[in-house]
Amino acid sequence: MSSRLQNQVAWISGAASGMGEGIARLFAREGAAVALVDVQAAKGQVIAEQIRAAGGRAIFIECDVRSESAVRSSIEQTVREFGGLNSIVNCAGIVQVKLLHELDEADWDRLMDINVKSIFLSIKHGIAHLKKNPRSYVVNIGSIGSFISQGSTPAYIASKGAVLMLSKSIALDYAADGVRCNCVCPGITDTPMLREHLNATADPEATLRNRLRRVPMGVPLTPHDIARAALYFSCEDSAGVTGTSLVIDGGYLAAAEWEHPGKTRFMDPQ
Ligand SMILES: NC(=O)c1ccc[n+]([C@@H]2O[C@H](COP(=O)([O-])OP(=O)(O)OC[C@H]3O[C@@H](n4cnc5c(N)ncnc54)[C@H](O)[C@@H]3O)[C@@H](O)[C@H]2O)c1
Repeated sequence: MSSRLQNQVAWISGAASGMGEGIARLFAREGAAVALVDVQAAKGQVIAEQIRAAGGRAIFIECDVRSESAVRSSIEQTVREFGGLNSIVNCAGIVQVKLLHELDEADWDRLMDINVKSIFLSIKHGIAHLKKNPRSYVVNIGSIGSFISQGSTPAYIASKGAVLMLSKSIALDYAADGVRCNCVCPGITDTPMLREHLNATADPEATLRNRLRRVPMGVPLTPHDIARAALYFSCEDSAGVTGTSLVIDGGYLAAAEWEHPGKTRFMDPQ
C-alpha cells in the first residue's frame, strides 16, 4: 500500500459506481480513510467491504446529494467515524439526453441539484472541518462539457460549465484557509453511465466506435485514469495548484476536427 494520503479522510460522492468508485479504491490504497456516499446502497456497501477486506478504511453512507440534511449528516458521520475531514470529492452526477423544449422543470431541477447544488451543499457543511487542517482538498468532477457543448444535453452542459466556475470560486474564497479546489474534466470514460448511454442506442459497440473516432488516442478513458487525476489534486504533488482544471480526454479537446486513423498504439493489449 502506498501512502500519499496517509492520515487523510475523504468524503466521496458518487462512490458506488464508475469514477467515484475508482477514486474511493485508489484513495484507500493510498492510505486515506474513505466515506463512500451514494444513493446506491447495495453497490456502495460491497465496495466499502472490499476496501476493508484489502486492509483499507472505508464506510458507505447512503445519501441523496440533493438533500441538505442528508449531505450535512453524511459529513458529520464521516467526521465522527474517522476523526476529521481533509478531502471532498464531488463525483455524483447524471446526464439527460433531451432537447431544452423536451425537458420539464423537474428534469432540469433534478440534474442541476445532483450535478451542481450538491457541490454547494458539501462545501457549506464540510468547509469548517476542512479549515481545521493545515492543508485540505476539494476536487469536483466536470467534463469536457465544461468547455465545449455536445448535442441534446443542454442541462448537462450548463451544469458542467457551472462545476468548472464554481470550482474557481471555491478556490479563491478558501485559499487563505489552506483549502485548494480543482476540477477534473474527463472525456469519454468507460463507466456504467457511459454504458447506459450507449445501450440506449441500436448498436452500442458501433456507437462507441463512432464516438471514439473523435478521440486521437482512440480509446475510452478508465475510471482509474480519472482517479489518478483526483489523487494528484488531493495531495501535495499538486502543491500550489488551485482554481484550475485538468482535462483527461485522450486528446479530444485538442482539435476542432479529427478522425483517428483506425488504430493507435493505445489500442494494443497491455
Ligand atoms: N462517463 C463519462 O464519460 C463522463 C465524462 C465526463 C464527466 N463525467 C462525470 O463523471 C461523474 C461520474 O460519472 P460516472 O461516469 O462515473 O457515472 P456513474 O453513473 O457510473 O456514477 C455516478 C454515481 O453517482 C451516483 N448518484 C447519482 N445521483 C445521485 C444522488 N442524487 N445522490 C448521490 N449519488 C448519486 C450514482 O448512483 C452513481 O453511483 C459525473 O459527474 C459525470 O457527469 C462522466
